[in-house]
Amino acid sequence: MPIKTPAFILNETQLVSNLTTLAEIREKSGCKVLYAMKALPCARVLEITKPFIEGFSVSSLFEAQLAQEVLGANSKEGKFEVHLTTPALIADELYELTTLCSHINFNSLTHHARYAAAIENDTSVGLRVNPKLSFLNDDRFNPCRHHSKLGIDIDALWQANQIEQVSGLHFHTVFAATNFTPLIQTIDKLRRYFGHSLEKLKWINFGGGYLFHSIADYQPFIDLVIELRRELKIDCYIEIGNGVVGNVATLTASLIDIFESDGKTIAILDTSINHNPEVFEYQRSPKILEHNENGRYNVTLAGGTCLAGDIFGEYHFKHPLQIGDKITFTNVGAYTLIKANRFNGHNLPDIYLQKADETLELLKHYTYEDYQKQWL
Ligand SMILES: Cc1ncc(COP(=O)(O)O)c(C=O)c1O
Repeated sequence: MPIKTPAFILNETQLVSNLTTLAEIREKSGCKVLYAMKALPCARVLEITKPFIEGFSVSSLFEAQLAQEVLGANSKEGKFEVHLTTPALIADELYELTTLCSHINFNSLTHHARYAAAIENDTSVGLRVNPKLSFLNDDRFNPCRHHSKLGIDIDALWQANQIEQVSGLHFHTVFAATNFTPLIQTIDKLRRYFGHSLEKLKWINFGGGYLFHSIADYQPFIDLVIELRRELKIDCYIEIGNGVVGNVATLTASLIDIFESDGKTIAILDTSINHNPEVFEYQRSPKILEHNENGRYNVTLAGGTCLAGDIFGEYHFKHPLQIGDKITFTNVGAYTLIKANRFNGHNLPDIYLQKADETLELLKHYTYEDYQKQWL
């Protein structure tokens, strides 16, 4: 079926494959698995994900509402869990959050002191700790950076001597990790700091950031979880976003103009960095299928907005490009569409699901009315 571009295409087979990997690890280790819906809160993704996991991790009231609405889940009846972790806890939203979330993690001792009493008994309360072990060189991604805003400094938490007042500990320290060394070192540090107090907890949440589908040897993870469950008698959770949906989507765009500028060939696409803002935020060049390392034709691919820096990068092609050619960005499932916007009045991409039988189902098509509703 010919598709109108730009089109964001979710691959159901790849999604199920990622989830099957997680389900196997869950089965072997007893670790509980949450999908971090911030990566892509698309309802169909949530539905496909549901049979493989314990629940969702959320960052806001809207995410918690969507989780419950889409799935008709009732975390309060223990059918499905919704875990909230955010530095942006808003007092006015607290009551509603307690009706929607089975677990709430406080990001600071200030918030814990201020709001813990307002949490109903059947919502499990945890603290997000910053273990102060940095595994990332780029501070823009590093939750353990100096003067971090994410989680309670482990030394302050130790001094406050408060972990026995809560049911769980949460940490999230890595991005796109392909081995478990950071996790093992973090657990080791927590055990050294908090010792037997950890046995009083009900659960520990290791956060997200691990690309389980790209890790060949899960045994260190399985061993760690089994050991923690046996020795501390606590539940272990992971909350994975990128590792569930990152490699599940492509974005297909069409070339709408091509010309020379100061000796370089510039091709304008019918998408832009506004459909994948992390390209600009982190100055990354996204991967495309058509790039050929040995290709003789060098082209700078650019988006069609008024921003001079709306550029994807320079790519090599085997053949000269022409208006109408298709360009396919890969690995755009996580943190892409959720950050997309309609800058310059450019529409958002259509969203398709490529099903296991290879047929395409149109999930979303936005119109002028959506743009009008936002701004009129
Ligand atoms: C607290 C928390 N948990 C889980 C995640 C999911 O991480 P990832 O998508 O890298 O698996 C994030 C990502 O920012 C996060 O901040």
